[in-house]
Amino acid sequence: MDRIRIRGGNPLKGEIPISGAKNAALKLMAASLLTAEPLTLTNVPRLADVRAMAELLVSFGVGVQVTMAAKFGEGDTMKLEAREITSVFASYDMVRKMRASFQVLAPLVARQRQAKVSLPGGCAIGARPVELHLNALEAMGAKIDLAEGYVTATAPDGLKGAEIVFPFVSVGATETAMMAATLARGTTKIVNAAREPEISDLGNCLIAMGAEIWGLGSSEITVVGVEKLHGAAHRVMADRIEAGTYAIAAAIAGGEIELVGASHDTIASLLSLLTKAGAEVSSTPRGLKIHMNGTRPKSVDVTTAPYPGFPTDLQAQIMALMAVADGTSVVKEKIFENRFMHVPELARMGAQVRIDGDTATVRGVEKLKGAQVMATDLRASVSLVLAGLVADGETNVGRIYHLDRGFDRLEEKLSRVGADIARVPE
Ligand code: EPZ
Repeated sequence: MDRIRIRGGNPLKGEIPISGAKNAALKLMAASLLTAEPLTLTNVPRLADVRAMAELLVSFGVGVQVTMAAKFGEGDTMKLEAREITSVFASYDMVRKMRASFQVLAPLVARQRQAKVSLPGGCAIGARPVELHLNALEAMGAKIDLAEGYVTATAPDGLKGAEIVFPFVSVGATETAMMAATLARGTTKIVNAAREPEISDLGNCLIAMGAEIWGLGSSEITVVGVEKLHGAAHRVMADRIEAGTYAIAAAIAGGEIELVGASHDTIASLLSLLTKAGAEVSSTPRGLKIHMNGTRPKSVDVTTAPYPGFPTDLQAQIMALMAVADGTSVVKEKIFENRFMHVPELARMGAQVRIDGDTATVRGVEKLKGAQVMATDLRASVSLVLAGLVADGETNVGRIYHLDRGFDRLEEKLSRVGADIARVPE
């Protein structure tokens, strides 16, 4: 297993191309199951999770063709054609490997009227139940059976429109309800819908495929079911979490980075905190520029929340910045119950963090020290890379398959802007 080795201390300068969003691409790929015609996605990121989703779709009989971009910084093109679905079964092995696999349930039931998909179970960041997904499908007339770790959902007469009121905001359950509703008979109203940009991206692709959807980006989405969806071409939105991660990289290492393709609006909550911490943020014709003039960042308090609040997927990264900030910062994690696994690893590098339930109090130190570290999820792992960029000496991050799941050519992007970072065999 490879590791990532970082020698800290280099300021960053140059541009980083932002890839297509993992959390949009995976659901867009699942949406290809809703039509017999080809769905062509462009700006697809090169990630292990994207490959895993493609493998799962192939197991259902979907034809998947990838054209790799010739130029660094450009996304790949993926043509998905679910002309005939030959299997509606997603195994425990597939879903365990990648929770987003669960998102095939709704399109399979909507089009094939049945599916058997493994329950995902808990994961490193918390229990992560799926009852909201199942309640939504049930409200639309699906019969749900749970046995031996699998959900079997059937709707022999097809799904029907319903009013679905979510008790709290869930990205995945909103996507399940929206995809299911596109082919349901009648109108579905999704109340307390998640407003994440990835949901609007999925909704816009579904609209391009012929779906009738209103209210994207608001907390009430209305879908009028249609008989059939058709093929379409859609460009995957830029990854706001990747963009946010590199914005924090510039703030922690110092220097100036242009994030090409990034959009200010999708990470406004982060950018306002970075400004308070001392970074200069400006929009450019191609994206965003982050400048940090080598001064120590100031501490800021952070509370994660559903969009447009501060994303939980950037909490570990901002904590790395706070670990070296001037002052004490309070970081509250309100989305997942167990998302502080980076804390003991950051502590190995000299960070001073105290955890009390969902709250971490970070007392900034002047210097972190390189160490051997590893983490159990994607965002936690990248926070250790960020810490390594400013730590004295060498940091070695293990278990980098987590990084490969969600960061497209991370070490290449960072080394091109001056970081001393390399992938080395163990
Ligand atoms: C998506 O997960 C993302 N994953 C996560 O990114 C992200 O952290 C999360 O949204 C929040 O923004 C993908 O898009 C593939 P939720 P999702 O349903 O849809 C609870 C990453 O690193 N809940 O909005 O699973 C749940 O346990 C990943 O890229 C229930 O209790 O998140 C959590 O506490 C990690 N019952 C909260 O809701 C349910 O039926 C929000 O989860 C559904 C969710």
